[in-house]
Amino acid sequence: MLKTVTNALKGPFYVLGAPSRQVDQGKAVLASPEDLKTSDPFLLVLEVKDAKGDPIPFAEVDLWQATSTGEYFFASWRLRGRALADAAGRVEVLTVRPGGYAGRPGHVHAVVSGVAGVHVPVTTQAYVCPGNRAESMSTEVANIWRSRRDRNVVRCWTVAPDASGPEKLHFGFPRLSAEHADLRESVGWWGARMAERGIERDVVAVGEHVVRLSSC
Ligand SMILES: [Fe+2]
Repeated sequence: MLKTVTNALKGPFYVLGAPSRQVDQGKAVLASPEDLKTSDPFLLVLEVKDAKGDPIPFAEVDLWQATSTGEYFFASWRLRGRALADAAGRVEVLTVRPGGYAGRPGHVHAVVSGVAGVHVPVTTQAYVCPGNRAESMSTEVANIWRSRRDRNVVRCWTVAPDASGPEKLHFGFPRLSAEHADLRESVGWWGARMAERGIERDVVAVGEHVVRLSSC
């Protein structure tokens, strides 16, 4: 049976055929070393789940985003690529915080696929809003014909290993507290990988986002 999928628009910026960015199981690097050195390294953690909330192992994500200054690239695969989730449906993507453009807050576009014939692939956007405030999406042109998609806001935290003051909160995100031991561990893992590659930067913020796929 042919089923109509209600998806977000891929928009004018999607390019088919992006390369895999996988570096380890459930781990991928979307940004180049140069981008990581010159922009703010940002760790996006996506969890792919089915309609019942169960994880979808080895789901595929095809991602593309703008630079921190809101530019897309078409003549190269800069800030574009695919990755597979791990057995728990989780994928960590090291990238730079996406910059806003045309009145929209920064976002990462994603086409997310589960098991062919079982899950309906979805095209979506994960929004990185200042202070995690969905209101910053209110100026988005697309909201003229649909309601604001608050569920698309990524929950982000500032990564501050030292006890710096509130003025150091990156992009107004709350501080990543000790209760997020899993995210702290992930940030540490990525910090070590960047150091190995000579990228003298820390992950400045981490965001966690759930993408749900419906059944066919
Ligand atoms: Fe976009």
